[in-house]
Amino acid sequence: MSDSTTNAGTLPNAVRVLASTQDVQLEATRIAADILRTSHERDVHLVLSGGSTPKGFHAFLAQQPDIKWLRVHIWFGDERTVPPTHADSNYRMARETLLDLVAIPPANVHRMRGELPPDDAALAYADDLRTTFGLTDPASAPPRFDLLILGMGDDGHTASLFPGTAALHEYTQWVVANEVPQQDTWRITLTWPVLNAAKHVLFLVTGANKQTALRAVFGDDADARPPAAGIQPAGDLTWLLDADAGAAFDTR
Ligand code: 6PG
Repeated sequence: MSDSTTNAGTLPNAVRVLASTQDVQLEATRIAADILRTSHERDVHLVLSGGSTPKGFHAFLAQQPDIKWLRVHIWFGDERTVPPTHADSNYRMARETLLDLVAIPPANVHRMRGELPPDDAALAYADDLRTTFGLTDPASAPPRFDLLILGMGDDGHTASLFPGTAALHEYTQWVVANEVPQQDTWRITLTWPVLNAAKHVLFLVTGANKQTALRAVFGDDADARPPAAGIQPAGDLTWLLDADAGAAFDTR
């Protein structure tokens, strides 16, 4: 697996271009498994993303040895406003490609309840975060996830922070219901305070259709940067791109 590591643009991100989508998924698995193996010493909190790229990552991760799934907690960066059995459910995709394949206690899987009214689902998830991390003081700083997996849409959205939507201006609530008019739907999403508190963030971005958004994320025009550019975590941030997406940075 070869990769060209560049520090594209002016943002302090590590951008790694790998040969294929599968190489992206394998490298994400290597990084994630290393982090999850700290589950032998303590609880480890992993946030999963929706979309199609994570499916192969989940399949590889399910095969990794020496992860104490008993102490791994699974969270979701966002969810569609659908039941957990719906074809569009991020939870259902994670259950089918990862959670049903590992010995993780059901109580450790923290599902956004897309079947509820959106605001109720957001409040319930925030309560779950506060209870699980013991952050019941309203003035508490957000929880720090050990690893946050994110994707990016071809419009530059990440999680369910879509261009032009209200959630982009939310800096207090940790979880909100976000109306997405361009998709004629509502989503549940983590917000900047929680996303940017993460210790490690991995973007998995594949496909030529992401090139325009990638150039905008790393471009010099701050006004043109899409939501994904707002991910500037306290911890480290690595972008794993396949060659089709990474061609965005080809200057030749
Ligand atoms: C969702 C995802 C979304 C996803 C991107 C990229 O719920 O739709 O959270 O933000 O990460 O759309 O998806 P792909 O991995 O399919 O390119």
